[in-house]
Amino acid sequence: MSAPKTLPPDSRIERDLLGDFVQVVEQAAIASARTMGQGDADASDQAAVQAMRHAFEAVEMAGTIVIGEGERDEAPMLYIGEPVGAPAPAGVEYPKVSIAVDPLEGTNLCASGTPNAMVVLAASEPGGLLHAPDCYMDKIIAGPACRDALDIDAPVKYNLKAIAHCLDRQVKDLVIMVLDRPRHQDLITQIRQAGARIRLIPDGDLSAGIAAAVRGAAVDAVFGTGGAPEGVLTAAALRCLSGEMVARLRVDTPELEARVERMGIKDPRRVYTARDLAPGNEIIFAACGVTEGALLHGVRFFGDGCRTHTLAMTYRSRQVRFLDTVHMFQEPGRRGVRLY
Ligand code: FBP
Repeated sequence: MSAPKTLPPDSRIERDLLGDFVQVVEQAAIASARTMGQGDADASDQAAVQAMRHAFEAVEMAGTIVIGEGERDEAPMLYIGEPVGAPAPAGVEYPKVSIAVDPLEGTNLCASGTPNAMVVLAASEPGGLLHAPDCYMDKIIAGPACRDALDIDAPVKYNLKAIAHCLDRQVKDLVIMVLDRPRHQDLITQIRQAGARIRLIPDGDLSAGIAAAVRGAAVDAVFGTGGAPEGVLTAAALRCLSGEMVARLRVDTPELEARVERMGIKDPRRVYTARDLAPGNEIIFAACGVTEGALLHGVRFFGDGCRTHTLAMTYRSRQVRFLDTVHMFQEPGRRGVRLY
């Protein structure tokens, strides 16, 4: 479908590109799911990266990776600044799109066949996603009920009380997800002392953040320090879900401070909300399950095809889709399409 002339190319992102981005995450999920449980996290990541890069070649956009596999010299594909998308024919202008990718969120989860590995992508107009350095980020993430209630500088107990109040519960009823890392020992002690319950996760604070923003996922908030790129992707999802987040980069070495400055971040101690991290007017967030998870099924293969489960959300048009797709690797034979 061609866009009406009144629309500038950048405002066609949600309308025109959602289906393409769903294909991109599905192809990367199928490729990496083949490596599930093989114990080789790098091979799992590479499979996702290659499939994602290949799938981008068919998308009619002038895309730029703003969060990806790292700097150009360390990542052969999907490096920060890499242009992606189909070449535009002469005289045709494709929309400019900023793209953040985590081709395989939870590489170890995939390599060990543990739940919640997924392929993730967010897209927005230029400037719509923060160019976060590949460092750590302190995060507190909760659902829409906790609007303006979180304070990253306040004691853990204060935030737990605030979340409990917003959810009309007691602190002892709360379930808080925390990455199981030695750096979180003190945080875990403080949460326990406050009386809340904890779910420690081996990896994947991005899927945990999405779970905290939706009702019925049996998690009320995520506390702790995880990747900054994952933080921006979480923020893109939260914009679509009206979730709440406060975050701050962990800039703790002079080298990182210089790097952050070079990336145009003036105040490395700045407290970010989801809107600060993903300020776009148009946002697409797409995630496809690789291993079985709380939010998404993993990829299920059945010889001549496979089945994928994808979460596809848009900010401006306020749509949350769960897509259950059968991919046929060949024309179905006389026995018809198999669904599992
Ligand atoms: P990868 O998929 O890159 O391995 O990231 C998994 C993850 O658990 C993220 O969800 C999280 O933000 C980050 O790693 C935490 O980093 P670290 O493993 O260094 O604590």
